[in-house]
Amino acid sequence: MNYSIIPAAGLATRFLPASKCIPKELFPVLDKPVIQYIVEESVEAGATNVVFVSGNGKEAILDHFDKINPKFSVGKLGNSVREKVEALDDMIEVISVRQKLPLGLGHAVMKGTLAVPEDASFAVMLPDMLIFSDGGSSVMQRMNEIHEKYGCSVVALKEVPAEMRGLYGIAEGTRLSDDTIEIKRLVEKPAEGETSSNLAVIGRYIFTPKIAALLRDVKPGKGGEIQLTDAITALLSEEKVLGFVIDEKTHVFDTGNMEGFALANVFAALRRVPDFSNKIKELI
Ligand code: UTP
Repeated sequence: MNYSIIPAAGLATRFLPASKCIPKELFPVLDKPVIQYIVEESVEAGATNVVFVSGNGKEAILDHFDKINPKFSVGKLGNSVREKVEALDDMIEVISVRQKLPLGLGHAVMKGTLAVPEDASFAVMLPDMLIFSDGGSSVMQRMNEIHEKYGCSVVALKEVPAEMRGLYGIAEGTRLSDDTIEIKRLVEKPAEGETSSNLAVIGRYIFTPKIAALLRDVKPGKGGEIQLTDAITALLSEEKVLGFVIDEKTHVFDTGNMEGFALANVFAALRRVPDFSNKIKELI
């Protein structure tokens, strides 16, 4: 798996006014934009060809992964900052695709597939879903191992409380092992009583090439948007699709809303800023 698609052409209306001119994908969690964490996760899993699906006003996302502007005299920076800047210079092959209108996640991913070789499996990573694994392999690395073992598509899942089901795509399936299920059905943002499963889709996928043709056929679904969930449902009738269930040591933050974004920053600070927990306690 050498390619990943990062759809970043949405309007981020939940984060207005902050997202009026600055793409939410560039909001920083401490010293890095959220999307850089996602790109680093992609690279760790071996996908260094990154297809950014961007739209109007989102060009700064691409600039971030360019070589640094010569106006910064990098040579004069302290070692640790310089290393971070230089690491970014050659981290990935930047591939850019345009979604002219935000018609939905499925539509954005379909546009992204235009830049992926027809016979290649690829990852899809939502740039507003930040995932911190406490030690060990990242979620994308584990998913790639499962993909390589079984040769089929893999969707990352997380157990959520029943009252939260309506916020996510929910997967139903049969257990194959502690952390793997075979997905039988997906329901996008289910109404109460529509499913008894608590396994929510959390924005990391690996797809076999077959999904590209299915995405081209998807009609607008829930909310009038072209839904990725509907293409996966079509895939389920043609191929096996597995779910990788993350463990409780893996933390997921939806940085596309204010609460998730604030929590992600606090979580990162607790790990990286000396004495941060005492400072927070004093504030409380
Ligand atoms: P979200 O629904 O979380 O993002 O989509 P959004 O639409 O930008 O946010 P709100 O709901 O208006 O606040 C998940 C990811 O998919 C991308 C978004 O940029 C985001 O990173 N996306 C969504 C697209 O690229 N195109 C779309 O048409 C929709």
